[in-house]
Amino acid sequence: DTEKDALLAVGLSKSFKVFVAVDRLNIGVHRGECFGLLGVNGAGKTTTFKMLTGAEVITSGGSCIFGYNLGVNRRKYLSQVGYCPQVDPLVNVMTAKETLLMYARLRGIPESVAEQHVDSLIDQLGLTEYKDKHCETYSGGNKRKLSTAIAMGGGGEPPLLLLHEPTLGVDPVSRRKIWNALLDCTNNGQSILLTSHSMEECEYLCHRVGIMVNGRFRCLGSPQYLKDKYCQGYTIKVKTRMSASAEKLEELKAFLVQTFGGSFLRDEYIGRLNFLVERRDVNWAQLFSTVREIKTRFEDVVEDSLVGETSLEDVFLSFTNEQVQQRPKVKCRLCLCCGNSQ
Ligand SMILES: Nc1ncnc2c1ncn2[C@@H]1O[C@H](COP(=O)(O)OP(=O)(O)O)[C@@H](O)[C@H]1O
Ligand SMILES: [Mg+2]
Repeated sequence: DTEKDALLAVGLSKSFKVFVAVDRLNIGVHRGECFGLLGVNGAGKTTTFKMLTGAEVITSGGSCIFGYNLGVNRRKYLSQVGYCPQVDPLVNVMTAKETLLMYARLRGIPESVAEQHVDSLIDQLGLTEYKDKHCETYSGGNKRKLSTAIAMGGGGEPPLLLLHEPTLGVDPVSRRKIWNALLDCTNNGQSILLTSHSMEECEYLCHRVGIMVNGRFRCLGSPQYLKDKYCQGYTIKVKTRMSASAEKLEELKAFLVQTFGGSFLRDEYIGRLNFLVERRDVNWAQLFSTVREIKTRFEDVVEDSLVGETSLEDVFLSFTNEQVQQRPKVKCRLCLCCGNSQ
């Protein structure tokens, strides 16, 4: 629906020889919406982004932005987009201010307002201290901020932002600065499609998220909807003692599963147990009293424990093991890279 959607991609597919990296994906980013593309490594996020920005040839399907078709009117299509790529698109010997002014001019922003837009972007993202320093001297986080600022443009332009992991390597304080700046963008009517590995970021920013597995959406909806549908309830995390006996550990697991019928051990790694209690009828008092009980009853097993509500991360984790890693089918004779393949 081009009236409702800023970006509309239909049946988007990408194959590398016989391997299908993106498989008939349909994406609609509504106007003024922030849509999050999530998925484990190899799910197909970067390939999707590259196709949407015209950097990678689409195997089949197509994409429209505000009614402009990538295959038909590439120039108009791309002119609607502010893009923050995976690799920072910065010129080492330019300062933040020079960089942003250059992009503003390229976009045709009138000279009379360009400087004002640029100063406000620099201020919004907390780059004031660095604005007259060369990009090559920036930390990774500051480079990310500047790349995001380039995509954001100014004054509600460009109308669609495609952001590839905009806050990767950015410290928690600066991250919030970027988030607030992006919230302003959507409040100003700009639309955003972003990929991220931070569930916190998606919960904060995204109206809807889609979790990609093997090149397709495995689920799609608002963070709240996904939590309600796939991970209703609570989590109990237990840190166990190194000295705990295997027998006692099993006893503890059985105890928790038994206490809350409908709970199960979702994952276990380096002495940490992660239980999911998929029940709405359990209340906080019951959870806390159980946690207190295991601390005394299994004193020699439990070092620490934590209860919480399920988060978007729990939804994400419940799909991650469905991702199939691509493996070479034929063992190469001349290299050592495929040692484990058949
Ligand atoms: N140029 C390429 N040639 C062959 N396979 C590729 C190429 N680019 C990506 N792939 C494969 O496509 C799949 C999806 O990759 P990618 O889009 O980078 O995933 P993500 O960004 O979600 O981690 C992976 O299995 C990757 O190995
Ligand atoms: Mg990627």
